[in-house]
Amino acid sequence: MTTYRIAVIPGDGIGPEVIDQGLHVLKGLGRRFDFGWKFRSLPWGSDYYFKHGRMMPEGGLETLRPFDAIYFGAVGHPEIHDHVTLNNLLLPIRRGFDQYVCMRPGLLYPGVKSPLNGKKARDIDMVVIRENTEGEYANVGGFHYEGTPQEMAAQTSVFTRHGCERVIRFAFELARRSDRRRKVTSVTKSNAMGYGMVLWDRVFEEVSAEFPDVATESLLVDAACMDFIRRPEDFDVVVASNLFGDILTDIAAMITGSMGLASSGNIDPERRFPSMFEPVHGSAPDITGEGLANPLAAILSGAMMVRHLGQEEAADALEAAVVQTLEAGDALTPDLGGKASTEEVGDAVLQALNGRNNGVPRIWWVYENLPRRRGRIHLASCSFCNDGQGLHDSTAPTGRWYGPFTTTDAAIEQALQTRAEDLGGCGVCQPGVGTLRTR
Ligand code: NAD
Ligand code: IPM
Ligand code: MN
Repeated sequence: MTTYRIAVIPGDGIGPEVIDQGLHVLKGLGRRFDFGWKFRSLPWGSDYYFKHGRMMPEGGLETLRPFDAIYFGAVGHPEIHDHVTLNNLLLPIRRGFDQYVCMRPGLLYPGVKSPLNGKKARDIDMVVIRENTEGEYANVGGFHYEGTPQEMAAQTSVFTRHGCERVIRFAFELARRSDRRRKVTSVTKSNAMGYGMVLWDRVFEEVSAEFPDVATESLLVDAACMDFIRRPEDFDVVVASNLFGDILTDIAAMITGSMGLASSGNIDPERRFPSMFEPVHGSAPDITGEGLANPLAAILSGAMMVRHLGQEEAADALEAAVVQTLEAGDALTPDLGGKASTEEVGDAVLQALNGRNNGVPRIWWVYENLPRRRGRIHLASCSFCNDGQGLHDSTAPTGRWYGPFTTTDAAIEQALQTRAEDLGGCGVCQPGVGTLRTR
C-alpha cells in the first residue's frame, strides 16, 4: 500500500479548525481508496513565535523537505505584524521550495449562490495561475534612515524572463487540458509599470506563439478586476503576477460564493521540492474558535494535494463529495447561508464520500468535458453499494467528476430512458441496468 508523508502546518486562527476537518476527510479517503497517510503536525506559527521568538525553528525548510507534500492552514495573528508572520513562515516556503505556480480555481459550485445576479452553477469556471516566487513579493528592498524623519523604504519588484516564462507556459499547458476551454488571459499593469510588466507582456506574446490553438487576451489589472465582476464567465485560465494574482483570487473567491470555498496549491511542477496546499483565506481572527469557519476550502485544497500525489480517482471522489454536500445544502456554514458548524460540514463530506446519504442523491455522475457542455453522462460509482467496480471508465476522457446531479429515482429513471446509450448501471447492486458504455 502506498503511504504518503505529509507535513501539516495548521498555523493560526481558524487554520487548525479547518485543517482538522481536512485531515478527518483525507483519512477517510485513504481508507476508501486504499492508500495510507503519515501526517506529521508541526506546531509552527504565532504561538510558536510567542514561545521561541520565531515562526519556525531554524532549518525549518530542511525539516519539510523530505515530505511528499505540505498541508497548510493559515498564518496571521492580530498581535504580531503580518510582515513578520508571513515573511518568516509561509512566504519562505513558497520561495524556498520554488513553488512557482500558485493554482487557484474559481468555480461556482452547484448549490452555491453567487452575489452576482443570475449566475448558475459553473457559469463561472476559471483557474487563476499566480506567479508565486518573485514579482512584487520578491523579498528585495530595505529601509534607510529608519525611524527618523528622513526614513525611506524601497520595495523592489523582480521580474525575470525565466520566472515569467515558466509560469506562463504552465498556464498555456493547463488551458489545453480536456477540462479547460483553451483560453489564457494575462493580467499586468504595463501602462504604469514600464519595466517588469513590459517584460511579462513580451514573454506572454512569445510563449503564446507556441500555442496557436489557445486563445489569448491581455488585460490591465484594473480592467481585469472590473471584468471578473462584469463578465466572469469569459475567463478560463488567468495568469498573473504574484500581487495581482493575490488580489484577483479574493475576487474570484467572492464571486463564486465565499472565501470559505477557495482552494489553492503552491506547486513546484518539476517536483524537486514538496508542494504546499492551503486554503486561499487567512486566519480569520474575527471568527476563530466559534465553529463558524467553512472547512471546504481546506478540504478542496486537500483534494488538490491528493491529485498532485497521483491519486486522481480519489481526488475526483473527494471533489464529488464536496459537490454533493453543497447541493444537499443541509450542512453548510453561515458564510454559505447555513447553520452547520465546521465539524458538521467535515462529517457531511465524509458521509457523502462513504455513500451514506440516506439514498439521496444516490449516484454520482460524470459530465464529460463539462465546460463545453457536451452533456454526455457516465455513471461513475454507485453510492448504494459504494462499488465502482466495472463502472468507472478510466480510459474515457472524462476530465473530472462533477457529480452528483441526479437526486431522485424518477430522475435516474428518466436518465436511463433518455440516455440509454451513454448510461451504464451498477453491475453489483442493479445488474439489470446494463454496463458502462462510452462513445
Ligand atoms: P481572512 O481571509 O482571514 O478573512 C477575510 C474574511 O473572510 C473574514 O471576514 C473572515 O471571517 C472570512 N473568512 C475567511 N475564511 C473563512 C472561512 N473558511 N469560513 C468562513 N469565513 C471565512 O483575511 P484577513 O482578515 O484579511 O486576514 C486575517 C489574517 O490572516 C491576517 O493576519 C492576514 O495577514 C492573514 N492571512 C493569511 C493567509 C495565509 O496564511 N495564507 C491568507 C490571507 C490572510
Ligand atoms: C494568500 C495570502 C498571502 C499572499 C499573504 C498572507 C502573504 O493573502 O495566500 O493569498 O498574499 O500570498
Ligand atoms: Mn490573499
